Amino acid sequence: MLEIRNLHARIGDKEILKGVTLSVKAGEVAAIMGPNGSGKSTLSYVIAGREGYEVTQGDVLLDGVSILDMPPNERAAKGLFLAFQYPLEIPGVTTHTFLRTAMNAQRKARGETELTTADFMKVMNAAAGKLGVARDMLRRGLNVGFSGGEKKRLEVLQMALLEPRFGILDETDSGLDIDALRIVAEGVNTLRSPERGFLVITHYQRLLDYIVPDSVHVLSAGRIVKSGGKELAHELEKNGYRDYVATAA
Ligand SMILES: Nc1ncnc2c1ncn2[C@@H]1O[C@H](COP(=O)(O)OP(=O)(O)OP(=O)(O)O)[C@@H](O)[C@H]1O
Ligand SMILES: [Mg+2]
Repeated sequence: MLEIRNLHARIGDKEILKGVTLSVKAGEVAAIMGPNGSGKSTLSYVIAGREGYEVTQGDVLLDGVSILDMPPNERAAKGLFLAFQYPLEIPGVTTHTFLRTAMNAQRKARGETELTTADFMKVMNAAAGKLGVARDMLRRGLNVGFSGGEKKRLEVLQMALLEPRFGILDETDSGLDIDALRIVAEGVNTLRSPERGFLVITHYQRLLDYIVPDSVHVLSAGRIVKSGGKELAHELEKNGYRDYVATAA
């Protein structure tokens, strides 16, 4: 469903991705781990279509169709969702309005009708309740003054409402307390389905105890240097990256 082929990307004249190849089938969860600065967030941004990155080689296909020429909103309309490592604060827009606009845009893109305000409130409140997002947060500016963990919960709430075809989670576990980690993982697990794929970027094997991945990949210096099953995450937790990082230099 998501296929990354020999992807090379740069910012300015600095090459960050140096030939990433990875494919995630529908129904699967692939985890990416790797040292700080190895290019994990860059990979997620390039897939989502964020400005400032130049793809110099390779391709990214969603359901067999190259998405690299599409603007970010078109990729989102195709069902691609990225939960940011550092969610943006937007003071002028209430969280609730943002969610409703995003959800209705997504429904429209899928050829579904927009939800009425009353219906949206029901759906949003139910999802927020499950993810432990407080009502007062939804009335505040988007992410404004949210704690680190609250921002992460909101990203997952947004994903739950948008029901994407493919979700990318960039360190969604960072900053979460132990209970929130479980709640957020449960939120992701609820969304797992045979038609939906995920790319989960994390530094800690612990998250993968809750969101059990089908494959684990180590990104180092812009390349995937090792792939394996979920046991690879345990090995990394124990030994660090020393066995793999040298091979990428
Ligand atoms: N705008 C930029 N200009 C120059 N270098 C950049 C820019 N953005 C990112 N980089 C560099 O690209 C490399 C990869 O960054 P990236 O954020 O993808 O790493 P990461 O694997 O997500 O790290 P972390 O685990 O710390 O989140 C880093 O060396 C970073 O400094
Ligand atoms: Mg990162």
